[in-house]
Amino acid sequence: MKRTPVIAGNWKMNKTPAEAADLAVALARSLGGLTGVEVVLCPPFVSLPAVGAAVKSTRIALGAQNIHWEKSGAFTGEVSAPMLAGLCSHVIIGHSERRQYFGETDASVNKKVKAALASGLTPIICVGELPAEYEAEQTGVVVSWQMRGAYADLAAEEAARTVVAYEPVWAIGTGKAATGAGANAVIGLHIRGMLADLYGSALADGVRIQYGGSVTPANIAEFMSQPDIDGALVGGASLKAPDFEAIVQAVFKAKS
Ligand code: PGA
Repeated sequence: MKRTPVIAGNWKMNKTPAEAADLAVALARSLGGLTGVEVVLCPPFVSLPAVGAAVKSTRIALGAQNIHWEKSGAFTGEVSAPMLAGLCSHVIIGHSERRQYFGETDASVNKKVKAALASGLTPIICVGELPAEYEAEQTGVVVSWQMRGAYADLAAEEAARTVVAYEPVWAIGTGKAATGAGANAVIGLHIRGMLADLYGSALADGVRIQYGGSVTPANIAEFMSQPDIDGALVGGASLKAPDFEAIVQAVFKAKS
């Protein structure tokens, strides 16, 4: 099945709203008309309106980096899916930094995925093994477990609306990316394979699965040449317009 590649920029906790708007204006100019590739910018919550204004009337989509699973209530500092539904179309769920620093678990990831889908947001569900798990050759076990947790009690119709990002934690922000073949093997076997186990191969064939972890203009082509990799979740390189543009253009070239 032909899947539309999806490239997301995870800006993490970077840029003021004014700086975010500047970057978004530059990207809107260079990438705003691109078809055949889905581009998603994920700035901090406070910059969603400014970035949204900059990419309005372009093909660039907007995503948040996290949500709470409840719709509203006494959860100081949190933001819910219904609050975001008018502002953006995507949301990153279960990023390894959230799991590592903010105590997110497979159970909370599952609740957040359901909340996102209930509000019509596309969840970008992050999975990936820790350095020690990689060393111990536990990648398959860990990723399969995270996948089962994230998709627990999800109907097929809901699962079909998800995107997955495979991000080995040892590759994030380290400059030590996985190899294309290595990432493809994990994605094919344990991510698309798990989706096939849970929902059948027709559904699994339609779900987009990204690679993330030290993606750059220099290595993106290697990932995109892999049959099971449908795009990237880009951190550091998404903060510089020329780098992100080069990555998106490489994806466009690889898949068109
Ligand atoms: P990186 O981050 O591209 O800076 O490695 C990726 C991510 O955390 O999503």
